[in-house]
Amino acid sequence: TALKLGMIPADGIGKEVLPAAQRVLEALGSSIPKTTFIPLKAGWEEFNKNGKALPEETIKILKEECDGAMFGSVSSPSHKVEGYSSPIVALRKHLDLYSNVRPVSSIKIPNQKSYHQCDMVIVRENTECLYIKKEELEIDSKDGSKKAIAYRQITSKASSRIGKMAFEIALRRGKEREIAKKSGKSVWWNGEPKVTIVHKSNVLSVTDGLFRESVRAIKEGTDRYNGVKMEEQLVDSMVYRMFREPEIFDVAVAPNLYGDIISDGAAALVGSLGLVPSINAGDDFVMGEPVHGSAPDIEGQNIANPIASIRSAALLLSSLGYVEPAARINEAVDAVLSEGQYLTPDLGGKSSTTDVTDAILKRL
Ligand code: NAI
Ligand code: MG
Repeated sequence: TALKLGMIPADGIGKEVLPAAQRVLEALGSSIPKTTFIPLKAGWEEFNKNGKALPEETIKILKEECDGAMFGSVSSPSHKVEGYSSPIVALRKHLDLYSNVRPVSSIKIPNQKSYHQCDMVIVRENTECLYIKKEELEIDSKDGSKKAIAYRQITSKASSRIGKMAFEIALRRGKEREIAKKSGKSVWWNGEPKVTIVHKSNVLSVTDGLFRESVRAIKEGTDRYNGVKMEEQLVDSMVYRMFREPEIFDVAVAPNLYGDIISDGAAALVGSLGLVPSINAGDDFVMGEPVHGSAPDIEGQNIANPIASIRSAALLLSSLGYVEPAARINEAVDAVLSEGQYLTPDLGGKSSTTDVTDAILKRL
């Protein structure tokens, strides 16, 4: 067998960190099947050049030829631009990548300002909530004042499947911790696996209420998750507790927008957005993607941290079934981080994107 991976760097530092991930994948050599990388177009720059943020060709190749993909980051403008719509949001819909799985774990890095013990996975619903982008603007005929309305969609179907994903991940992590303990490794979380449902049902009882009930029903409807504890946290207090005692969280499951927000917060806890990977996963397709955006403040300087992207490639591999090579990548990354000799400026270092990637390759 051979692997075909679609590579969509898109904009900004996506164009710097995605090639770094590709170099790491290439360095795995024969420990993964022979891999072809197919460069694909999307993004704000692409929109300005050819009028389409997500060309048909890109979707077609992903669907018909690729076993998986990697996405960099896109520079979406903060104001409305006629004809433009975020290609990553669209891709998640086109490929039905209904879950966004974001492991956030800390590692001790020399000279780090603050260190928080954290090893959690944020499971973000990826297709609905406010991201259906149904917005309306009304202008008052009398005084010209404006009223903007956004629709938020929560369905039992999407909430149940993301809930199931969260419980499955909690179950798997529980097993992985047992194996690690048996082999003498230390694990932080000694309690039973746990899923925390993040919502705001006290205010939004219809929408968030449906999310909460649908996720709860996943555990209540079967014996399969008897060993997994279920807790709830209102999204605002979730942020508070995550910053005070991040070590108490195992798996958190959230509707789209809350999931987006708490993941950037969690990234701050572990030192940098440049460290946090994700996969967008559906039943038929997986796409790796660093959690961060296109970082216009540092683009083009070869100083972006490539680790989020490299760890995303590892997540992609392991979800395609190549668990061992994925673990090798993560071990190499951990070694470079804990050694602290090659760190990008976001972690207080002076190394470039290329230096850090080279150091990881050397470890591999
Ligand atoms: P951002 O994630 O691009 O940057 C936030 C801060 O983190 C910046 O100071 C940046 O320099 C730093 N940072 C991010 N990734 C880093 C890395 N790998 N290494 C070192 N430092 C890193 O978020 P921001 O600035 O709010 O958004 C910039 C653009 O990115 C916007 O156009 C936004 O729409 C887009 N965006 C795209 C996403 C995607 O493609 N999935 C996700 C989030 C934002
Ligand atoms: Mg985000």
